[in-house]
Amino acid sequence: MLKSTQSVTPNSFHSSIVIIFLLIPLITAQSTTIIITVGPTIPTAAPEFTNERTFTSAILNSTNFYRTKHNASSVRWNSTLVDFALSYLDSTCDFAHSGGPYGENLALGCSNATSCVEAWGNERDEYDFGNPDFSEATGHFTQLVWKTTTDVGCSARICGDAGWYLVCEYWPRGNIIGEFREEVGDDVNESTMVRMNVYAVVAAMLVTCFLL
Ligand SMILES: *[C@@H]1O[C@H](CO)[C@@H](O)[C@H](O)[C@H]1NC(C)=O
Ligand SMILES: *[C@@H]1O[C@H](CO)[C@@H](O)[C@H](O)[C@H]1NC(C)=O
Ligand SMILES: *[C@@H]1O[C@H](CO)[C@@H](O)[C@H](O)[C@H]1NC(C)=O
Ligand SMILES: *[C@@H]1O[C@H](CO)[C@@H](O)[C@H](O)[C@H]1NC(C)=O
Ligand SMILES: *[C@@H]1O[C@H](CO)[C@@H](O)[C@H](O)[C@H]1NC(C)=O
Repeated sequence: MLKSTQSVTPNSFHSSIVIIFLLIPLITAQSTTIIITVGPTIPTAAPEFTNERTFTSAILNSTNFYRTKHNASSVRWNSTLVDFALSYLDSTCDFAHSGGPYGENLALGCSNATSCVEAWGNERDEYDFGNPDFSEATGHFTQLVWKTTTDVGCSARICGDAGWYLVCEYWPRGNIIGEFREEVGDDVNESTMVRMNVYAVVAAMLVTCFLL
């Protein structure tokens, strides 16, 4: 079965639109790319894209920010994955998956690397933690925080008026059907808060019983 997804998030700062796209590479689906005509300013000199160290640390910081929140260990930067993303981008500006052996998230039109990763991570607002499974609306998020994934490597280039095109590879790959419950952790802070609320209610009931 093939799954692919594409979603659109408004980018108010540059009146442009961030387009994100994810593929479970068992399948290939045609998708429509939405082109923005509002005249966005393409941030050609954004340090998070142009400076390699800044780029690497921005991706790792933001990725591991979400991973920590969802009880996954931090990923490390892997040059094999970087090289894969780089050679794919060298060959194309097509907004389509490479079909490679890794998990892969794509983003087009972000103003910096952090905002790309946040567009993926913030899909968690749509994720149904009570019924964990793949969904086109949340596939970037679930790959991002997939517990078994240990390594990431990304590359980016400018693709004409569409702006920065970011490709991130993840290994071992995530989004494996049947493993979402174990692999995608609940928000650690929220689950802690829920537990504390339950304790508070139980404690209040005990106190009430005692007083009665
Ligand atoms: C790290 O990533 C988080 C989430 O994207 C972001 O809020 C924070 O500003 C980033 N910190 C740095 C130093 O870039
Ligand atoms: C980086 O990723 C490649 C491809 O999956 C893997 O074979 C290699 O062991 C990783 N490198 C390190 C240092 O872990
Ligand atoms: C990244 O882009 C977002 C959205 O345009 C913006 O709010 C943020 O300040 C930028 N961060 C950096 C470090 O440039
Ligand atoms: C995080 O995962 C560990 C196991 O890796 C588990 O023991 C712990 O309860 C989890 N924490 C939360 C808040 O889910
Ligand atoms: C969220 O959880 C982490 C790890 O348990 C903790 O370090 C952090 O302070 C918590 N943040 C908030 C806002 O509670």
